[in-house]
Amino acid sequence: MSLRSCPRVLAALSAAAVVAAAAATVSLSATVAAASSPFVIGFANPLTGSEATYGVSDEHAVNMAASQINKAGGIDGHKVKIDACDTQATPAIGVACADSFVSDHVNAVVGFFNSSISIPASGILHKADIPMVSAASTNPTLTEQGFKNVFRVCGTDNYQGAVEADFAYKILKVRRVVALNDEETYGQGVASFFGQSFKKLGGKVVEDEGIDADATDFTSVLTQIKSISPSVQLIEFGGFNPAAGLLIKQARGLGITVPFISDDGVIGPLYYQTGGQSTVGTYLSSSPTPQNLAQGKDAIPAAKTFLQQYVKQFGQPTEYAGYSYEAVEVIANAAKTEHSIAANKVIAGLAATHNYRGTTGIVDFNSIGNNITPQYLIYKVQPGGGNKAYWNPNAKSKS
Ligand code: ALA
Repeated sequence: MSLRSCPRVLAALSAAAVVAAAAATVSLSATVAAASSPFVIGFANPLTGSEATYGVSDEHAVNMAASQINKAGGIDGHKVKIDACDTQATPAIGVACADSFVSDHVNAVVGFFNSSISIPASGILHKADIPMVSAASTNPTLTEQGFKNVFRVCGTDNYQGAVEADFAYKILKVRRVVALNDEETYGQGVASFFGQSFKKLGGKVVEDEGIDADATDFTSVLTQIKSISPSVQLIEFGGFNPAAGLLIKQARGLGITVPFISDDGVIGPLYYQTGGQSTVGTYLSSSPTPQNLAQGKDAIPAAKTFLQQYVKQFGQPTEYAGYSYEAVEVIANAAKTEHSIAANKVIAGLAATHNYRGTTGIVDFNSIGNNITPQYLIYKVQPGGGNKAYWNPNAKSKS
């Protein structure tokens, strides 16, 4: 009996065809819906308060990256959407941003800026299995917690502290220093790594002191430093502004003339705005700024493009804007490489990121999620507040 001649079989077949067609329709619309669902990146930075200059610049950069990815078709059809959260550089508020990312079911997070927030926030995102790439949190602990979802494109403070110590000991040739910190995770870390490295080189930390990051009068600690001043040849400060600007202004006001060095939490317009002329000639360690990366014979092509496009829209970027742009790019690249936006796939794609050529150079994640390639430079503050790259530890000479 042929199939054609059997009405029951034909009826069954046509019913099956209807079911199959319906299933195909459902699956097609599911695919269309899935492909058109956005890929949401939570972005957490200080968007108001004293560190907003950094946060707002970084926000421009992540929005720029998202818009360029979307113009090029998104992540396999998923448009990138930025879900921004203002941490106000305050741990409790930053941690609440992490909670909001979990309840918003974001696909990934670019953040946080402050190590004091990134570290507790990473625990929350780890429990929720959300991939996280920090563009600016440099305290080593962040990636030493065994969290497979956590990465950073910036450098780490053990290296930053060692570069400052090398510069102080070998270039400035000082032997006795005071190391101050703002008693926060990041500042304490940099000052402590600086001190450890300086002692290893043969130098002496004659005083190691914490100051209140929110204070505006540092006369007491500075008077104490002045009282031992013939034996102090440099002051190092681990922390942020406005403390750094106020500290150097008050130090110079008290007649303390020794060199002053601070860090990537300080480099930027607020330092000069707060400390004025007293900041000129002081030194700041930092990852190479977007302006540096785009300059000279070793200019990075992607950094040049980034800087041109950024300047056209927003003016000059601050130091971590290029890293923030790059953080979005590496997340998108991880999802594209894995052909999936599932969290476990994006995390796997990030872990497999090696030799990715981005706006700050090569991104190459090691087994704990640190980028092994970023460098630190020593900058010298210029009249008017500009920062000039002054010493590159790798070149072993003034630049
Ligand atoms: N590098 C600074 C920090 O880790 C911004 O807090």
